[in-house]
Amino acid sequence: MEKSLVLIKPNAVQRGFIGEIIARFERKGLFIAGIKMMQLDDAILNEHYAHLSERSYFGELKDSMMVTPVVAICVAGLDTVETVRQMVGATNARKALPGTIRGDFSMSGEQNVIHASDTVENAIAEVNRFFKENEIFNYESAVTAFEYGGGEKARM
Ligand code: PPS
Repeated sequence: MEKSLVLIKPNAVQRGFIGEIIARFERKGLFIAGIKMMQLDDAILNEHYAHLSERSYFGELKDSMMVTPVVAICVAGLDTVETVRQMVGATNARKALPGTIRGDFSMSGEQNVIHASDTVENAIAEVNRFFKENEIFNYESAVTAFEYGGGEKARM
């Protein structure tokens, strides 16, 4: 099953949105394959945001991710990476559509509630960065037949 990494950022932890954000993924029919709270540090953030290291806001971004622990979630399902990105909405939350997580919970492109992997390739690297192999659970869901059609199940 395709997997994606979601981080519930410190600003969402502070504002009490952990439960509501997890509920959206569950309600959609995505599986929670892994979940934990973690205090991030400079080392993991340097790796995770390496592609942004030349940006003027790099230090500010890393600081903002260490204010409280984050909630790391590995979600799984069919076409998960694209589906989760659609649910998350645009980076600048003021431009994110209503109904998306950022569109409903944030006014900011900086304090924008959530991170989600942007490509399948990056998702594999990001899940491996934040989760050990034995922290990911590929259990059988009892309701898959009511969430996916037969052709879709065959693709999972
Ligand atoms: S893009 O598409 O990568 O160029 O997007 P960008 O707007 O540059 O944002 C990339 C990530 O950096 C976060 N960001 C910030 N965080 C804290 N402070 C400031 N000033 C700031 N500016 C951008 C933005 O929310 C993106 O975070 P992730 O976790 O990747 O969604």
